[in-house]
Amino acid sequence: MCGIVGYYGPQNPKDIIVNGLKCLEYRGYDSAGVAIFNKGEFKRVRAEGKLSVLQGKLESEEFDGHIGIGHTRWATHGAPVERNAHPHTVAGVSIVHNGIIENYMQLREDLGEGTKFESETDSELVAHYIAQELKSEPSLLSAVLKVLPKLHGAYSILVVSKDHPDEMVAFKNGPPLIVGVAAGAIIIASDIQAIMPHTKKAVYLDDLEVVQVKGESFKIFNSKGVPVDKAVTTVDWTTDQAQKDGYPHFMLKEIYEQPRAVAKAIAPHINTSTHEVALKDVGLPDAYWATVERVFIVACGTSFYAGSVGKYLIEELARVPVEIDVASEFRYRNPVVPKNSLAIIISQSGETADTLAALRQLKQMGVTCVSICNVKNSTIDRETNGHLYMNSGVEIGVASTKAFTSTLAILNLVALQMAKAKKVLTSENEHLYAKALLAAPAQMETVLACDKFFADAANTLKEYRGFLYMGRGVSYPIALEGALKMKELAYMHAEGYAAGEMKHGPLALIDKRMAVVMLAPSDSLYEKTLSNLEEAKARGGEIISVGTLGNERLKSLSKHYLTLPQANWTINPILEAIPLQLLAYHVASALGNDVDQPRNLAKSVTVE
Ligand code: G6P
Repeated sequence: MCGIVGYYGPQNPKDIIVNGLKCLEYRGYDSAGVAIFNKGEFKRVRAEGKLSVLQGKLESEEFDGHIGIGHTRWATHGAPVERNAHPHTVAGVSIVHNGIIENYMQLREDLGEGTKFESETDSELVAHYIAQELKSEPSLLSAVLKVLPKLHGAYSILVVSKDHPDEMVAFKNGPPLIVGVAAGAIIIASDIQAIMPHTKKAVYLDDLEVVQVKGESFKIFNSKGVPVDKAVTTVDWTTDQAQKDGYPHFMLKEIYEQPRAVAKAIAPHINTSTHEVALKDVGLPDAYWATVERVFIVACGTSFYAGSVGKYLIEELARVPVEIDVASEFRYRNPVVPKNSLAIIISQSGETADTLAALRQLKQMGVTCVSICNVKNSTIDRETNGHLYMNSGVEIGVASTKAFTSTLAILNLVALQMAKAKKVLTSENEHLYAKALLAAPAQMETVLACDKFFADAANTLKEYRGFLYMGRGVSYPIALEGALKMKELAYMHAEGYAAGEMKHGPLALIDKRMAVVMLAPSDSLYEKTLSNLEEAKARGGEIISVGTLGNERLKSLSKHYLTLPQANWTINPILEAIPLQLLAYHVASALGNDVDQPRNLAKSVTVE
């Protein structure tokens, strides 16, 4: 999953493309490059490493043209070095590619032994094929249309050619590609964020569509070259363009934004006077929720752990059975999905390749799919039958934080909506749960106070050999999420476990060098969790506990005791997530890691 951007217009393409790439760097940061028209050809500048390295190289570069393309890479085929950086150029044809060409071995073979490759990427061959076709085709468009049927896999590609300097062609199958229509200019990018500074008018390309940009106009065709009429959408997002606002990292800023994000997520769906819950503008008839007999939740990464909390919430409140799957498993396990099932598809970006594929499979089976996305108009948002939004604002940190807690809040509402529809929720309880949700943002503010503890303790905490996170019930998925955060940010071994399972293996790991993070809020499982904590302590484990304020016994058993305000069990996961995010953040910072862009990862995973 890489980020691509192309510009054709009166302004200096260098600045527009680099600023576009800045918005796309979350998609990969192994290398970056541009090809911009200059003195009769596309001048290519590429650099290994983050975009800032390319920016340094570009400082002294001038370009006299008004067309160019750029790329920020997350390496799939070929090491993250400059020779594998995009754009790839063959005989004056330059391309940037996001995705994977699955049949690239075959295509490489078909090109014949005489073909010289500069890189080990799957992408370069696309430039070879287009260059070959251009020998006989009159336009870049017609050359691309010849090559398109040969490509199997997931791709979004931008192409320019020195022999057609007034033309830029883009096409896609899988990863997103959006055409921004500005005054006298066209900007094409993988994400609307790169387009928004220039225009709010955009066209979302569908799979196997090809766009030809000529001057300031553009035309869209299907893969057979037949013109397609597409609506120009006006994007209703504001560019709350990500700034760090004085925080050292986006991640820390986003952790602090969580109370507001949760408040914005729940606002449309709770009547603050009557405390009634009604999911608004989902796009499904109100009567629908009563018909749901089974729920499937499908997601990846942090969104999967949010979904795992959803299973507890929906089963407990609405008494509807829930299955939860990581999308990469779901799509290949030939699942049995009974009639009247609802699928809940969770994705911050709305572009995760496995999640999207699972959604398409579910739709083919005729299952009603509701998405919970942060990015409006993302592919997943556009393809589902019903839509719920995290409303978190742009999330830049690769490790998801505010989108996670907002999703937990939305899942609370889904459970309540379904419980109401199924008539298993008294209005008294509805009001109680709604009030608990409305109180959550203020409670989250108080939990943020543990930031100072972790900032001070990080230098000691980073010396642990590993972290074992334990929880029961709704706290179990939070333990899994806490461990994921530690892995992705601190690059340390961390495992999440159901506390009751500890005696079936993990106890053997415990010694003085193993930190045990115990989630033990005051809920119906508190006593049982406490017994598990005693077992860990008896084996010499160093206990960091997260519990409800005033639990003296928990405090006495713990080396460090972080407190949460007294809250309903449905809200505890939202509160517990915060200390675990801060723990991972500070340990990673103390280790000198890049917390916003952890090694080897990317925020939007558009390859499977
Ligand atoms: C990547 C990101 C994670 C995210 C996951 C799923 O792995 O690094 O932070 O949770 O993708 O992304 P999605 O956009 O589908 O929620």
